[in-house]
Amino acid sequence: MYRKLFGDGRHVGLNISYEIQNEPNGIAEAFIIGQNFIADDSVTLILGDNIFYGKLDYLYNALDKHNNGATIFAYRVNDPERYGIVEFDENGKAISIEEKPTDPKSEYAIPGLYVYDNQVVEISKNLKPSERGELDITDVNKVYLEKNKLDVVKIGRGVAWLDTGTPEALLQASNFFGVIEDRQGLKVACIEEIAYLKGFITTEELKKLIDTYPNSTYKNYLLKLLNE
Ligand code: G1P
Repeated sequence: MYRKLFGDGRHVGLNISYEIQNEPNGIAEAFIIGQNFIADDSVTLILGDNIFYGKLDYLYNALDKHNNGATIFAYRVNDPERYGIVEFDENGKAISIEEKPTDPKSEYAIPGLYVYDNQVVEISKNLKPSERGELDITDVNKVYLEKNKLDVVKIGRGVAWLDTGTPEALLQASNFFGVIEDRQGLKVACIEEIAYLKGFITTEELKKLIDTYPNSTYKNYLLKLLNE
């Protein structure tokens, strides 16, 4: 479905390739399936059901510096038992990480956005499946924590991290973005608009792309962009 939606990404100035995980063997398997793609590089993993909205400098900073260790994030939530949880000591240093604990040691959940050095491929290959039978991303993070190579960056107020992994959460996210889009008359994460404003595609290319779209409010939005 993603391939159908985005293809090779050329129409928006990107170059997208795909690998498929045929069985739900856990998130960390991504680094094994994707090892040729990663090659000698560092790598960022973003889960498809996680949405980040707001000022994302903390992410860009993490991406800039990454060749040694890992950076993950922490975000305060109301329902910590649903997530990977990180516990901090009084100096703000991460001291433990647990996957979906029944008795969470903190309210800081780990969002599905992870930045790793190249070691992550070897670490993932050496993982044993967790109790739920999966290669858990939390176990990867634990290895970095034990090696003292894990940065945990707290995401503060003013940034929304939404997860769309349950029907309720999906509805909440839809309502959240519905309100913002409606208020401003601007779309959030409209891929064609971003490509155009970032200069990944020219006005001519955007025009041609819009021509291929069926009549819709989405098409009208893009046409309006052309006239601005
Ligand atoms: C996964 C991770 C968990 C993380 C969450 C973020 O959970 O295992 O540590 O906090 O994503 O969305 P899952 O989506 O597998 O329930």
